[in-house]
Amino acid sequence: MQQEKKVLFVCLGNICRSPMAEGILKKKVKEQGLEDLFFIDSCGTIGAHSGEMADHRARKVAQKNNIEITHRARKFTKNDFQKFDVIIAMDTQNLFEIQRLAQPSQMEKVKLMMEFSDQFPAERNVYDPYYDTEEKFEEVFQLLNHCSTKLLQSLISNSHE
Ligand code: 4NP
Repeated sequence: MQQEKKVLFVCLGNICRSPMAEGILKKKVKEQGLEDLFFIDSCGTIGAHSGEMADHRARKVAQKNNIEITHRARKFTKNDFQKFDVIIAMDTQNLFEIQRLAQPSQMEKVKLMMEFSDQFPAERNVYDPYYDTEEKFEEVFQLLNHCSTKLLQSLISNSHE
């Protein structure tokens, strides 16, 4: 029996990018019948939206892609370093904020989502669509979908190491 891999996505408000990433990865894991091997969650570096459902545009775009986002926003805590094996930041601002709270030994758990994209090698950030249009949410969704495929491959191959 392999150990469960615990994955946490982090953005700023936890109402747009990270709940979409959470929903996408959960769907891919389910499609592959790997639910017992993964625990997937998301949070934000600020608590301004804590307790709220994801942004209606994020839920709508996800719904169009057969994903229901039921997540309620919460703020990242230092305890998440103990709870999760992999912590994935959506942009460098989120990354620095998490790294600021990490012990040196916890730094290697923290990664950028764009590390799992080969579409835009120079880009480090998943664009924040909060102040933008629904079309931008669709673009961000597709990018997250692309990254999640590579991320899941990486998590599966690392679990055999
Ligand atoms: P997210 O988007 O980090 O992808 O959830 C944002 C949500 C809320 C805010 C900024 C970005 N805000 O400033 O409230």
